Amino acid sequence: MIVNYEDLGLVNTRVMFAAAIHGGFAVPAYNFNNMEQLQAIVTACLETQSPVILQVSKGARDYADQTLLRYMGQGALEMMRRIADTTGLGEIPIALHLDHGDSYEICVSCIDSGFSSVMIDGSHLSFDENVAVTAKVVEYAHRFDVTVEGELGVLAGVEDDVSAEHHTYTKPEEVQNFVARTGVDSLAISIGTSHGAYKFKPGQKPEIRLDILREIEKRIPGFPIVLHGSSSVPKEAVETINRFGGNLKDSIGIPESQLRKATQSAVCKINIDSDGRLVMTAKIREVFAEKPEEFDPRKYLGPAREALKEMYMRKNREVLGSAGQAPRIMEMLRER
Ligand code: G3H
Ligand code: 13P
Ligand code: ZN
Repeated sequence: MIVNYEDLGLVNTRVMFAAAIHGGFAVPAYNFNNMEQLQAIVTACLETQSPVILQVSKGARDYADQTLLRYMGQGALEMMRRIADTTGLGEIPIALHLDHGDSYEICVSCIDSGFSSVMIDGSHLSFDENVAVTAKVVEYAHRFDVTVEGELGVLAGVEDDVSAEHHTYTKPEEVQNFVARTGVDSLAISIGTSHGAYKFKPGQKPEIRLDILREIEKRIPGFPIVLHGSSSVPKEAVETINRFGGNLKDSIGIPESQLRKATQSAVCKINIDSDGRLVMTAKIREVFAEKPEEFDPRKYLGPAREALKEMYMRKNREVLGSAGQAPRIMEMLRER
């Protein structure tokens, strides 16, 4: 069955990004693979009145079943409305986004099943091949008013099955040409962030290249920029994991102070997945160690969901600046 995101009540990212650029904040893009993660994200964003982008990766589609995930996205929206209704909280704008789409076909499949936004990640291709596949996705997506994120430059680390040992920073001199030739709505860039929990080597200064970001902004003023690999790898979660039998060595994330600086620029979407994985794992390990008699999944997934929710609320308030921004975006959406 082909369905358009607007019929489901989702929104694309256009208005959110316009608000983020003018308001000096970034919209959170949180990945989910299961019900507890999704509930934590949606309730945290509703209670902080933040817009949110729910991200589904190819791996998530394989893990949780693509049909189920798409209905979960729709279900999240309905859950949000019901809670908003019963608590008196205002509704928040929710986008459902394909993260790291690696082919035209997967983007079409998501668009046809009601996603409001897709990423086509051609960053491992040559510049011209990246332009070609991105432009093809944009041509299809825009027929349905679905927004498209492209990527230029390669992040170090592992993305799905592709791994890169070193960063290939985005070349500022290429961005204008890429944006003009593809018609993308936002651009993911490589400035030193990376996926996973090991973003810097021990002894290395954890720093992202805000100077490259500024150069990029000069070439495409006001154009929405996306940062992937933006988990901060909270020390407390890593310590808890290790205290209760885990073995995470030398994990280092992006300092939150640098992400806060980035939100003041044209960076209007910040992707966070690993921090949620760490916080969830820490809580589950803690419950397993402290209550060895428990075997009801609700008794460990419930506390994990609560810990996740708290983490997302704090990110929205203290890092992304997205807390309290939903009412203005809802108003902008109504004025269109
Ligand atoms: O960018 C990668 C995201 O963290 C998704 O990870 O491909 O393991 O689902 P995944
Ligand atoms: P982290 O691994 O830093 O959470 O990055 C997530 C991401 O970029 C998803 O696309
Ligand atoms: Zn990513």
